Amino acid sequence: MEDGGRILSNVVSSQVELHTSFGGVVPELAARAHLERIAPVVDAALRDGGRSLDDVDLVAVTRGPGLVGPLLVGVGFAQALAMERVLPVVGVSHLDGHINSAFLHDAAAEAPVLVLIVSGGHTELVLVDAEGAPRVLGRTLDDAAGEAFDKVARMLGLRYPGGPEIDRIAGRGGGRAADFPLPRVTVDGLDFSFSGLKTAVRYRLEKELGLPQGGLERADAAAMPPQLVGAAAAAFQERAIDHLLEKLELAVGATTPQTVAVTGGVAQNRGLRARLAERFASATRLVIPPPELCTDNAAMIAAAGFRLWQRGEGASLEVEPGLRLSPG
Ligand code: KG4
Ligand code: ZN
Repeated sequence: MEDGGRILSNVVSSQVELHTSFGGVVPELAARAHLERIAPVVDAALRDGGRSLDDVDLVAVTRGPGLVGPLLVGVGFAQALAMERVLPVVGVSHLDGHINSAFLHDAAAEAPVLVLIVSGGHTELVLVDAEGAPRVLGRTLDDAAGEAFDKVARMLGLRYPGGPEIDRIAGRGGGRAADFPLPRVTVDGLDFSFSGLKTAVRYRLEKELGLPQGGLERADAAAMPPQLVGAAAAAFQERAIDHLLEKLELAVGATTPQTVAVTGGVAQNRGLRARLAERFASATRLVIPPPELCTDNAAMIAAAGFRLWQRGEGASLEVEPGLRLSPG
C-alpha cells in the first residue's frame, strides 16, 4: 500500500482448497502452508505492485486473533524482514484490519463509524471515533455468523466454506423460506447468538427427514432432497440476516453514527448486502467494501498498520491467538 490508502497489490493465497476435504480448517496444515507460501506471496505482492523491497518503508503484520501457528509464521517472517532491511514493523489486530477495510474503500467515511464485523471467527459491533479508536458495543455470545453459515451448510451436505454455498442456493430461489419455519433469534442488548438458530435448523431438518433427534449426523448428504436444502438455506439465511439487521438497527439508534460499515467474509453475502442497501438507502452513509476487501486480505492489515504507526502505536509483536478489541 502506498500513501496510507492506495492499494498497489493485494495478493491472497487462499487455503480453502487445502481444507475443503476436511470440512474445515486443520490448524497444522494451515501453519505448514503459511510457512511454505509466505515468501512467494511477499515476492508476488512486490512484483504485482511494481516495487522492490528497497521501496518499502514499513512492515505491518497480524499478531492476533487467530491460530497460533500461522500467526507465529507471519510475525517471525515480518520481524526477520524488518531486521534485515532495518525497517519499522507494527503488530496489527486482525479485527482492526477488518475495520480498516471500510476506510480503504471509502476514505471519506465520517466518524463516528458504526462497524459490523461478520466473519468466520467474529461477529462484533464496534464504534470507531474520529481518532480511530474502536469501542466494542456487542459481540456474539457463541458461534460467529460465518461459523453458523459453515455449520448449517455442513448439515445440508454442502461443501466448505458454507457461506458462499448457502448464499448461492438461497439466491437461486429453489426453495421458499416459508416452507422451513424457523424462530427469530432473541438476545438481550447488542450481543448476538447463532447457536440457537443452528440447532433450530438441525431439529427441523431431522423432523422433515423423519430422523430421530441427533440422527442428522449419520444422514447421507447426497440423499438430501434439493427442495428441502433450498428452503432450509433460504430460511436460515433470512433469519441470520434478520438478527444482524435487528442489532445493527438497535446500535444505530443508540449511537447515531455518521457512517455504518459492514465487513468481514459474511459481508459478501448478497442477501445481506441487498437488505442493508434497502435499509440504509438514505440518511446514514453505508459502506460495504467490495468482496475482495470484505474477506481476509493483506491490504486491510496494511491500512490498519499504517494508522497505528502514524499514532505511534502497534509496538507489540507478541502473538496473541485470543487478542480482543477493547471491550469499551
Ligand atoms: O473474514 P473471513 O474471510 O475470514 C475470517 O476472518 O473468518 O470470513 C470467512 C467466513 C466463512 O465462514 C465463510 O463461510 C463466510 O465468511 N462467507 C460467507 C460468504 N462468503 C464467505 N457467508 C455468507 N455468505 C457469503 N457469500
Ligand atoms: Zn477475517
